[in-house]
Amino acid sequence: MSERVEADVVVVGSGAAGLTAALNLAAAGRQVLVLSKADISAGSTSWAQGGIAAVLDEGDTFESHIEDTMVAGAGLNDRRTVEYVVENAAPAIERLAALGVPFNPGETVSERWHLTREGGHSARRIVHVDDATGWAVQKALEKAALASPNIRFLPGQVAIDIITERHAVDQGFANRRAMGLYALDRESGRVRRLLARAVVLATGGASRVYRFSTNPDGSTGDGIAMAWRAGCRVSNMEFNQFHPTCLYHSQVKNFLITEAVRGEGGILRLPDGTAFMANHDDRLELAPRDVVARAIDAEMKRLGLPHVLLDMTHLGAAFIEQHFPTIVKRLRELGVDPVTQPIPVVPAAHYSCGGVLVDLQGRTDLSGLYAVGEVTQSGLHGANRLASNSLLECLVFGASVADTILGSFEATLPPADVRPWDESRVTSSDEEVVVTHNWDELRRFMWDYVGIVRTDRRLERAGHRVALLRQEIADYYGNFRVTPDLLELRNLVEVADLIVRSAQARKESRGLHYTTDYPGLSDPPRDTILYPGLAG
Ligand code: FAD
Ligand code: SIN
Repeated sequence: MSERVEADVVVVGSGAAGLTAALNLAAAGRQVLVLSKADISAGSTSWAQGGIAAVLDEGDTFESHIEDTMVAGAGLNDRRTVEYVVENAAPAIERLAALGVPFNPGETVSERWHLTREGGHSARRIVHVDDATGWAVQKALEKAALASPNIRFLPGQVAIDIITERHAVDQGFANRRAMGLYALDRESGRVRRLLARAVVLATGGASRVYRFSTNPDGSTGDGIAMAWRAGCRVSNMEFNQFHPTCLYHSQVKNFLITEAVRGEGGILRLPDGTAFMANHDDRLELAPRDVVARAIDAEMKRLGLPHVLLDMTHLGAAFIEQHFPTIVKRLRELGVDPVTQPIPVVPAAHYSCGGVLVDLQGRTDLSGLYAVGEVTQSGLHGANRLASNSLLECLVFGASVADTILGSFEATLPPADVRPWDESRVTSSDEEVVVTHNWDELRRFMWDYVGIVRTDRRLERAGHRVALLRQEIADYYGNFRVTPDLLELRNLVEVADLIVRSAQARKESRGLHYTTDYPGLSDPPRDTILYPGLAG
């Protein structure tokens, strides 16, 4: 019999989104379980470098931040969402400061915090903690959550699927709703039932579906796949953001060189020292990410280069060491001194702009199921996320999801009696190689065929391969006991399918989706929305 744990709310994910929601729920007296599939700090939040965007400077305006977000998003943003997030940014930053996040102080008397600049922003508006903002945010949120008597952390739990009325013992139970989830406990290998009146997905993005990524291992799109299987719509999955400047190194594959380096004057160069951004965009190094990533990709393809260079040597040792201490330390450990040498960089998959479709309250299509953070498509990012708007989205929506749940909590039914996880028809696998092989193959063809530049032919090739892998992985899943790797692979192939289908549906080039078969824009701009009833 699988163990049954019950709380008021289950939050899946302990990054900025999940912890913000949990803290707000706990502050109102609700008992919250917070799951993470590995260590509590292992999500993307801890890795964020550049900072958080907010209108904090007297010369800056909401309108300018809104406009910059919509320009980057190439006409697909939902203006209401953009306004909501931008207008709630400053209070969100204040809450973090109150929790002890030591934002870098300003350099003049009138400036409370130092504001850096990043691509696509027409003003200095990024608060940061040196070049390791995410770590400071994660630690402050964790500290507050660990101190709360209403929050119970369950690390090492891999959520498998949402429990709905389909899993109820009494099948006469009619209303469609989420009542918890099944999760694999890594230590015991047993599957638990975690039950609650509300479930919040805060599982982060899916960029590890690509061979090269700036993300930690766990960004495998689990929440997107779970919500989809539970009957929720997903949207804009074709817009996976490639960060222009990931370190190119033989051993270290996912170390980001923050956009703030370009914001502070870093220059992209070819190996012979030629600066090349002027050939691609008037905004040079500060063009939005999709433009810069495509420019680098084009130069690498044109000249057959394995990487380009990001040069900040002209900024001087004192400035570089003061502004980018984490990057300097890590690069020196790896034998590159950014004070005297340009840094070898390549684009890498960085952020999922698409995801589970949510409204301004963080509600999904399934009653009782909410989603927040990178797992969602909230309308904020459109076809391309503006730098440093992501942590902000986690903070603002984390609070609004909690408000929504609290507002309807009393009227929500407690979870029904649900069936335990059934392992009666499966055995332990004797061929783990199937998982590792399929994992490598999937990431490789996603990189080659569904990357920065796409064509109909490449997408078709990817689609065929996804279909084969999906079948093979479904058979394997049906016959063998679940493991963390198998669960991630099952989700990755689901997400790959959603990305390919969304990319095939978009017959234009917009934002992060660029195809040589349809180089122009179509009118009017439309979100890609996939409906679960039509799942292949
Ligand atoms: P995450 O922080 O990724 O957390 C996901 C959580 O879900 C983890 O706890 C994980 O264990 C858990 N989880 C996932 N699947 C399961 C499962 N099946 N079962 C149980 N638990 C699960 N954004 C900015 O705004 N500014 C920046 O400067 C910035 N820099 C970045 C630098 C890097 C290198 C990277 C990778 C991203 C950066 N981003 C930045 C993006 C930003 O960090 C992320 O979008 C954001 O942190 C996502 O937060 P989240 O809470 O949604 O998810
Ligand atoms: C970076 O520091 O370049 C990442 C910022 C972001 O992803 O928003």
